[in-house]
Amino acid sequence: MKVLEAVHKDWPVATEVRKLQSRLWRMSRRDDLKVIMTTSAVGGEGKTTTVAYLAATMALHPGRRILAIDLDLRRPNLHTHFEDTDGPGFANYLRGECMLGDMIQVTKLEGLDLIVAGRTEDNPSLLLDSPQVTQVINQLKPRYDLILLDTPPLVPVADASSLVPLSDGVLMVVMAGKTPRPLLARARELCIGMGGNILGLVVGNAEEAAPDSYNYNYYYSYAGDRNSG
Ligand SMILES: Nc1ncnc2c1ncn2[C@@H]1O[C@H](COP(=O)(O)OP(=O)(O)OP(=O)(O)O)[C@@H](O)[C@H]1O
Ligand SMILES: [Mg+2]
Repeated sequence: MKVLEAVHKDWPVATEVRKLQSRLWRMSRRDDLKVIMTTSAVGGEGKTTTVAYLAATMALHPGRRILAIDLDLRRPNLHTHFEDTDGPGFANYLRGECMLGDMIQVTKLEGLDLIVAGRTEDNPSLLLDSPQVTQVINQLKPRYDLILLDTPPLVPVADASSLVPLSDGVLMVVMAGKTPRPLLARARELCIGMGGNILGLVVGNAEEAAPDSYNYNYYYSYAGDRNSG
């Protein structure tokens, strides 16, 4: 089941993501956060899934303009959550292979646009660590209420670190029972070192970590939203 179908249904993931989006949306309005990146310490912790569900759930609210961008040029997967995503992506634009508008894909959910990663043989770290990336994001900002970035993990590669400064906030995704604590601490350090504003932790698969508390497979917890009302 693709994400645009899934978010309309009442099931545990949808419910948890609705709560998360609600807090994140309020926080983004209050603190004027427009670009929020999702990252993690290591790979396979649920970043892409979180971005897909968060973006779609946010865009369910009429009048909102949400953009999801796949900036994981090494393991691009955001498109797999959507249908009919052929077309140029972010890497193609950076390489001058298409125009800005050509890489923006309109999804079946009004209010949600998508930019896929696109193909490149170039070194993703070098491609992402260029002033052009900030310029593109700045060009996109006025068109949207919120831009969610799916990025690689922080510890193994440099790509995500260079995206921290252009993000207004960082969501750290953690897979309960999987992420080694020292690596999470290292990721936090790297993020803060780049001036990152860590908004909170999104904890996935909490059933494993807290089987008595949660009776379903997915659980998103959102911690650290300072001063939230
Ligand atoms: N909250 C969750 N609870 C349990 N499993 C999850 C959760 N979120 C994602 N998964 C599963 O974990 C796997 C990795 O998810 P996903 O691709 O979103 O992670 P990722 O952090 O983007 O990985 P990568 O580092 O490779 O980009 C997938 O099989 C996905 O279905
Ligand atoms: Mg991913």
